[in-house]
Amino acid sequence: MLVRLIVNGEVKELEVPTGRSLLAVLRDDLDLTGAKYGCSHGGCGACMVLVDGEATPSCVTPAETIVGRQIVTIEGLAAGATLHPVQQAFLDEDAMQCGYCTTGMVINAVALLQRIATPSERQIREALAANLCRCGVYQRAIRAVQRASR
Ligand code: FES
Ligand code: FES
Repeated sequence: MLVRLIVNGEVKELEVPTGRSLLAVLRDDLDLTGAKYGCSHGGCGACMVLVDGEATPSCVTPAETIVGRQIVTIEGLAAGATLHPVQQAFLDEDAMQCGYCTTGMVINAVALLQRIATPSERQIREALAANLCRCGVYQRAIRAVQRASR
């Protein structure tokens, strides 16, 4: 089926099989590989993107269900050469090791800070609870969100 997606402010028209995940469309059809394949079941947070500002697991989101909505991937957060404040804060706090989970954490943090400008540590922990990190950077990620909120 023909779908028309708005990705990082650009309209993308693609022929996709019904049920194809947004993650597959982003990575394999549009070459936007920032969102990662992890569990493919909505349980690890590696594939998060923003859909109308809401953090959304793209692995369990069929592309045809989000036609006409604003999709923002990690590639769409920076303004030219200037990183989004959350991206910069993750760098400044060294809040990554292998980096596989980082996209999901950053996207969840951006969504949180759009809802709550100065979240408590508990609210940050809750927002990042859906992001599994094998490298255990949680404490640094929390500090990064706090830095970004400042
Ligand atoms: S790959 Fe989507 S939540 Fe794990
Ligand atoms: S930094 Fe490696 S999985 Fe989180």
